[in-house]
Amino acid sequence: MKHLWVVLAIAAALSDSSRAQEAPNAENGKRLFLKNGCYECHGTVGQGGTGPRLAPRPLAAPALTAYVRKPANGMPPYSAKVMTDSEVADIRAYLATIPEPPKNLPLLNP
Ligand code: HEC
Repeated sequence: MKHLWVVLAIAAALSDSSRAQEAPNAENGKRLFLKNGCYECHGTVGQGGTGPRLAPRPLAAPALTAYVRKPANGMPPYSAKVMTDSEVADIRAYLATIPEPPKNLPLLNP
């Protein structure tokens, strides 16, 4: 019985610390990437289209946030009202989870 309390105390401590950090949520990022239309120009897995490839190595979080707030040309700006900084961080986390495309596809490199 005593062990159970130790386990519960550790679990509580762990869940508290993860909440304090508010780690970016890739699952939510994927949802936002689709919901906010990023996929229309950058592809559903950030592979690129009208817009450049974004995955699997997205810009660092501050640069990415700055970019979506004030893009260069053809991309529409996303204000903090449309997407909060933490939502942009979630999108970044999603882009970072996308696997690298295979390098040596015989069909592409005969
Ligand atoms: C209407 C098309 C369109 C949409 C929608 C769009 N983008 Fe873009 N994006 C572009 C284009 C085109 C560029 C290339 C530079 C430019 O013209 O602004 C770009 C550039 C970028 C870059 C810079 C890439 C680099 O390596 O310099 C990032 C980051 C980016 N987009 C993220 C996003 C995110 C995140 C979303 C959704 C919240 C999004 N974009 C929605 C078209 C789009």
